Amino acid sequence: MILIVGSINIDFTIKVKRFPEEGETITDGVFFQSPGGKGLNQAVASARAGEKTFLVCSVGNDVFWKFIEDYLKNEKNLTILPEVNKGFSTGVAFILVDDKGKNKIVVSPGANAKLSSNHVRQVLEQSNPRFVVLQCEIPFDVVQTVMEMKNKLNFIVVFNTAPFKSWVREIIHIPDFVIMNEVEAKQIFGKDVKDKDSAVVVLKDYPFHNSVMITLGKDGVVLLNQEKGKKISHFPAFEVDVVDTTGAGDTFAGYFSAMMSAGKDLEESINLAQAASAVCVTREGAVKSIPKFHEVLAFLQTLK
Ligand code: RIB
Repeated sequence: MILIVGSINIDFTIKVKRFPEEGETITDGVFFQSPGGKGLNQAVASARAGEKTFLVCSVGNDVFWKFIEDYLKNEKNLTILPEVNKGFSTGVAFILVDDKGKNKIVVSPGANAKLSSNHVRQVLEQSNPRFVVLQCEIPFDVVQTVMEMKNKLNFIVVFNTAPFKSWVREIIHIPDFVIMNEVEAKQIFGKDVKDKDSAVVVLKDYPFHNSVMITLGKDGVVLLNQEKGKKISHFPAFEVDVVDTTGAGDTFAGYFSAMMSAGKDLEESINLAQAASAVCVTREGAVKSIPKFHEVLAFLQTLK
């Protein structure tokens, strides 16, 4: 069983041919709305990978939460345990996606910023999870509470450093697995990380005792594996036609956690998580683009 402590948003996406310049208005965008938020995306990925998954989050008592709840009512393996904060809006993300599938995202956290340590502590104590997954779209005191409970309740923590917050540096040594992309790696280590070689350089100096993955999009993933004496290895990405990269990192984190929880080893979990992300970027949106496990296996079959 996996417990994800994280954000939940409604995503308002407009697909554009190109991003507007400052002060420019573009009028041929195509709009759609979909559930999103890094926490929810990771929870859906874990559930679609086949693991029983719980998402602990905070929402407003509003039409956005009703839309999300309704959209996900038939999602197998997923249970959402929301704290309802009346008077606050459910989190909202405005997303622009260009014709290369790249995105620009602005989030208004709304109720996500009200997620309380008490709610999270209660769920952790009652559910006794094996794996807990965290990201940074929730308050720092909630992240700290989970890290403090890790040894007492003896669960494994997967920590995704997205989106980067300065407090990441204070706690990065505590989780068992850390997942970051190249932008976050640069923010954490203060060194340019743009490809496989520069990722290897920063990981060679990594001072802590947990395993780290740097995801590099089309350049794959670089892993620092503590279980194998700090061995650094590279996993090339799968080549696909990119439609929308929104949620690709979340799909990786959710699938990786689910595969580890299902007993796969680190390398195989990374490989399957990369395959799931590759399928995700060929489709529009966040939650709606995340593949089910049989779709990931079918994708891998097409490569043989
Ligand atoms: O990682 C993608 C997600 O970032 C979107 O779903 C959006 O809600 C923001 O949280």
